[in-house]
Amino acid sequence: MLFKNVHIKNDTEKKDIRVEDGIFKQIAAGLEPLAGEEVVDYDDKLVLPPFVESHVHLDTCFTAGEPRWNMSGTLFEGIDCWEERKEMLTKDDVRKRVNKAVRIQAGNGIQHVRTHVDINDPKLTALETILEMRDELKDYIDIQIVAFPQYGILSYPKGKELLETALKMGADAAGAIPHFEFTREYSVESLNICFELAQKYGKLIDVHCDEIDDEASRGLETVATRAYETGMKDMVTASHTTAMHSYNNAYVIRLMRILKMSGMNFVANPCVNVHLGGRTDTYPKRRSMTRVKELTAEGCNVSFGNDDIFDPWNPLGNASMRDAVFMGLYAGHMLGYEEICNSYKFVTENAAKTLHLGDKYGIREGNEANFVVLDAKNYYDALCYNRPVLASYRKGSLIAATEPEKTNVKF
Ligand code: FE2
Repeated sequence: MLFKNVHIKNDTEKKDIRVEDGIFKQIAAGLEPLAGEEVVDYDDKLVLPPFVESHVHLDTCFTAGEPRWNMSGTLFEGIDCWEERKEMLTKDDVRKRVNKAVRIQAGNGIQHVRTHVDINDPKLTALETILEMRDELKDYIDIQIVAFPQYGILSYPKGKELLETALKMGADAAGAIPHFEFTREYSVESLNICFELAQKYGKLIDVHCDEIDDEASRGLETVATRAYETGMKDMVTASHTTAMHSYNNAYVIRLMRILKMSGMNFVANPCVNVHLGGRTDTYPKRRSMTRVKELTAEGCNVSFGNDDIFDPWNPLGNASMRDAVFMGLYAGHMLGYEEICNSYKFVTENAAKTLHLGDKYGIREGNEANFVVLDAKNYYDALCYNRPVLASYRKGSLIAATEPEKTNVKF
């Protein structure tokens, strides 16, 4: 199969892509069709590697308003709402909601997802269900599961045991939530446990780290130091790190050294960070997104996630990576021309690095032919005009397609 006339990752030159047996066979300009070869002419459209959702909670998706709405818009009322909704969890309920979410994600060109699943549940209902679905859906979407202790490892009954059980059941990564533990001592010790268990079972780590506007919340320095000292480095991710928005600059300068040495990844969730953050402020109100611009400038790997899809923490979450990038660029003061053009990396290459996908991810000869086609000739236009993902290919097969809407102005 030959895909003609595409701009790969903003390349101004048009290229052709030949796919054979689900693999990128040849990528070059001016390829001629072979005898009997199917040809699709994408006439000046943008081709990117599939979008990667590096932080989302599939277990909580589509639960906004059940049993009640988060009226304060705070992280903590969201956690209270979820605690009530969690009482209603069944495998069938989880399955229906996750099936809906992954199909919306597929339509948006997402083929890799890292989902955090709340394991502070003695029955581990959501984890068991999503583990099953990870296998069932693997031909269409890769689901990576973080065992996420929503209420803490040490501040929830048998939190450590539940985390260990979740890893034994097959979760891909260990989580932690140091800013939600009862004490600073618990916070540090919970991270020690997280690293100990991840190493014991050979898992990745993704910590909900300092998701609070408290400038004294300093789990990040511990995560970075453990990532460095254990040698786990880029197997470790710190999600949110919103307190870093509020740290004083003198501290950040000192902190940045170990962040760079650690080699760890960072995930910002721009829509949710801006929505949940600054809630205790009068004016000025903090925007509460971590220092994406500065971390990027220092060479740290940063990706963007959505965090939530229509749940107590984001009632407008819609699983669009475009929305995460759009908000991230605005909140991060990153609307320079090059920053806009390159911003697709936050939800493709950088996010793939966070998920530890390695060289198998990306548009290059010999890799699985996984790619998306956008209705624009470059990412600037795709982002600016909110153009849809026309097609998502997985191993060369079309798994989702969108017909662009057409507007007719009558004057
Ligand atoms: Fe999260």
